[in-house]
This record gives sequence, structure tokens and C-alpha cells, in this order.
Amino acid sequence: MRKLQTEAIHGHVFYDEKFGAFIPPIYLSVVYEQFERTTGEVRRTDRDLELKYSREENPTVRALERIFARLEKTIDAIAFNSGMGSISSTLFALINSGETVLIPYESYGTTIQLLDNMGKYGVKVRKVYPSTEKIIENLNRDVNLVFVETMTNPTLKVIDVGEVAKVARELGVKLIVDNTFASPVIFNPINAGAHVVIHSATKYIAGHNDVLGGFSATDDIELIREIWDWRRKLGTIIQPFDAYLILRGVKTLKLRFKKHSESALAIAEFLQEHPKVVEVYYPGLKDSPYYSLACRMFKEKMFGGVVSFKIRGGINEAKKVLLSTAIIKPSPSLGGTESLMTIPALSSAKYIPKEYRGKVGITDNLLRLSVGLEDIDDIIEDLDRALSRI
Ligand SMILES: Cc1ncc(COP(=O)(O)O)c(C=O)c1O
Repeated sequence: MRKLQTEAIHGHVFYDEKFGAFIPPIYLSVVYEQFERTTGEVRRTDRDLELKYSREENPTVRALERIFARLEKTIDAIAFNSGMGSISSTLFALINSGETVLIPYESYGTTIQLLDNMGKYGVKVRKVYPSTEKIIENLNRDVNLVFVETMTNPTLKVIDVGEVAKVARELGVKLIVDNTFASPVIFNPINAGAHVVIHSATKYIAGHNDVLGGFSATDDIELIREIWDWRRKLGTIIQPFDAYLILRGVKTLKLRFKKHSESALAIAEFLQEHPKVVEVYYPGLKDSPYYSLACRMFKEKMFGGVVSFKIRGGINEAKKVLLSTAIIKPSPSLGGTESLMTIPALSSAKYIPKEYRGKVGITDNLLRLSVGLEDIDDIIEDLDRALSRI
């Protein structure tokens, strides 16, 4: 099997014999002739699904899906218009009324909110502390589905997906892993025993802070059909132009992820020594409680581009730092070329109830930095200048 960096470039397997073109074009056509004129057969894509209408199948999207499947080493993948498109469509496919979903309470806020809202369709949600032990302790036959993120957001607790998967499989519980923070460069949840892997491709995979996207991948071909059918019904397919942007961005995924990881580690070390910083969260730091697990789980000693840290002071000081940077933008999201910083209590973790936030360390003085691809010296100087303002 070819390596990830090669698959990210060639895994779309597009080739136009007529012109010799090997870059997938943007098929803007919404409609396709449903039957082949010569044979009268129904026109199908390479996964044997009908190609007639772009809310169902589109050749540019299909090229991207082939790459996604190769990145996560699965039989197939379904591409969506955002990470939430992927999460919602996959949950609709997997969970029924009356069933219970187990999820750590430090998970992406909108995912938790969506699950809570699914209560009106009879879905029950059980929230647990985000640790491998607590997830496993709460796994039993009353649970139908467990949803975990490889690394929690924003305090970067690493979950031992292999251990959770082992217990989930013994109990017949389905495991969905949101692998956005780790990326397929360093971790493949399906190899570790998960049932479905989900990504917000908006982050590292697209990588340029200019396009939304997502995907779900699994080796369960029946489930692929079901998720596909929910995508069709919910209308959550990615648009062809967006798919093209991701096809372009993903080619440099590994190179970018390596640079994000190197810079993030250097910044985490810088912050650890900074007098205005009281705590740093980064699994690549040797004294992180997650360092040894992260080294076992993640490939090539890369730990991603997100670093969280607590500054001296409270919300006012956090805001002052946030708004005193020049290069680093005060914006949510992560995994792109531009460095971005947020106060999680006011952004991604806003929907996590305050009682839970306290338990996992999401305080008002916590900042989350997504380290971009700018020169590391400039990012450090920017941070240092902002921190000197408090
Ligand atoms: C871990 C995680 N999962 C899912 C999402 C949702 O992705 P999107 O914004 O592409 O819908 C996000 C967005 O920040 C995220 O951080």
C-alpha cells in the first residue's frame, strides 16, 4: 500500500483518457444523463451508485472521497459540506429513538448540542469525564453508541481509542471517533478498532482556512450506504468547488501537519517558561500526563498544532492577550495556515455547561492557540508582545 503523502496527491485516481489530464476537474453540472445512450444502462459512479443528480453523487466529490478513504485506510468514505454535516448525517444513520449515546463532556460543543437536541427524537445522552478509564467504566449494554474525540478540545486530553474500541466491540457498542485534532497523518481510528471515523476537513485536511468540509469513513459497506442515504435526504453533500479546494489543499497535508506540530511544540516549550503563563496543555510536552500514551498512539512523534494555556489573571486579561496580537487572529477554528487564538469559554466550549467546564479545566483564563504556518520566530514574538500587555 502506498504511503499517506502519496495517496493525498494521487489517491483520487482520476485520469481523463481523452485529454491525458490527471487533475480532477470541477464538475459543476447538477444533472447527468441518467442512462448511457449506447447501452441504455443506468449511469453509475465507481461505487455502483446512480449518477444523475449532484445532491447524491458528483464526480469531483467522488474523487475527493477516494482520497479520504485512503487517508483513513477504509473501504470507502462519504464527503460532507462541513464536519457537522458529517456528524449529523452519521448520527442519523447510526442511532435510533430510545437508544443511548455516551460522550465525554469535553467534546466539540456543537456535537454535544446536536445530541442534546436529538432528545426530542427520543435519543438519550450520557456524558462522562473525558478519560479512557471513565469512558470504559460507563460502557455497558445499555449504551448503543459511544462518540469520542482522539484529543479533547481544548485541553488536549488523549483518549486511548484502541482500549475503548476493545471494550465497545466486546459489548457490541458502536464507536465513532472524531479524529479532527489528530488527523490521519498520525492516527487511524479504524485500525484501532473504531467503527466510524469522522473529520472536520475544514481543519488540517483542507488546511487553508478557506473552505468547509467533512467526511465519514468506515469499513462497514452497509453503513456507507446508510450514511450516503442520510446525506441524500439531509442534503449535506459537499459542493464541487469546495471539494476541489480540498483536493488541492490535502496534497500538502503531511508537510503542513509536520510543520504545525514542530512549531506547536516549540511554542508550548516557550509558554512553559513564560512568567505570565501558569499552565500549558500539549501532549507533546515530556511532562504532559498524556505524553507516553500520545507517543504510543501517534505516528512519528507529531502531536498536532493546537496548544492551550492558562495565563495569569481572568477573563479580562485573557481578552487583552487575545486582542493584542497582530499575526495571530482572534478567531475560532484550527489546523489552517493562519495562526488563530480563542478563549474556549467564549467560543467552542460555550455550549459545555459551566459545571463540566470547571471539571475539565476550561477556565476563563484559558486560551487555545492553533499554530499556523507562519515563521515560528514571528509567532513567538507576537505572543510575547501580547503577554507583556497583562
Ligand atoms: C473536533 C471538531 N469536530 C467537528 C467540528 C465541526 O466541524 P465544521 O466546523 O467543519 O462543521 C469541529 C469544528 O470546530 C471540531 O473542532
